[in-house]
Amino acid sequence: MKKVSRKFWKYFFGGLIVLFVGIQFIPIKMPVTSENNPDDFLMNVKMPEHVASMFRESCYDCHSNETKYPWYSRIAPSSWLLASDVIGGRNHVNFSNWNKLSKAQQIAVLSDVASEVKSGDMPFWAYPIMHPKARLSAADRKELVDWAQNYQNQIFYSH
Ligand code: HEC
Repeated sequence: MKKVSRKFWKYFFGGLIVLFVGIQFIPIKMPVTSENNPDDFLMNVKMPEHVASMFRESCYDCHSNETKYPWYSRIAPSSWLLASDVIGGRNHVNFSNWNKLSKAQQIAVLSDVASEVKSGDMPFWAYPIMHPKARLSAADRKELVDWAQNYQNQIFYSH
């Protein structure tokens, strides 16, 4: 078999660079962030500090208006992936709007949170690779799930 020529690699990598530079010009609007969220879950719900910090560290970048964008959010194609995670995440659950939800909706969210965290589906698998603090141990998961289930009952039996 003939070895691929050096010329091929030159064009190949040249092409990749041109493509990489080119995609930077595709306009993309990252979901907007806001620090001012009076209906926020963590602001309005009393919970142990460690539970609150797990929500903040492991979930809030995708499930609240308080997304903290890393530097690679300004570079395509990672910006596209981040935008789609944040849009998808907020669409399902946005903790910044907690007080606007009905009791039934809050109960549904807590029940989803418990099942996602229990199964290990959330936080989204790729996220802790770039955010080591977001990694949850088995004990962390249990604590979060127990709290969510407990609080869900508390809402259910409240008037
Ligand atoms: C990197 C972004 C990201 C992080 C971090 C993240 N999520 Fe998600 N989450 C998503 C996306 C995107 C979806 C939409 C469903 C999907 O694509 O799997 C979602 C969906 C969900 C759902 C709805 C599931 C359903 O079937 O309706 C729940 C509940 C949830 N996440 C809870 C959490 C919790 C709790 C945490 C933190 C422990 C967390 N997520 C962390 C991105 C994220």
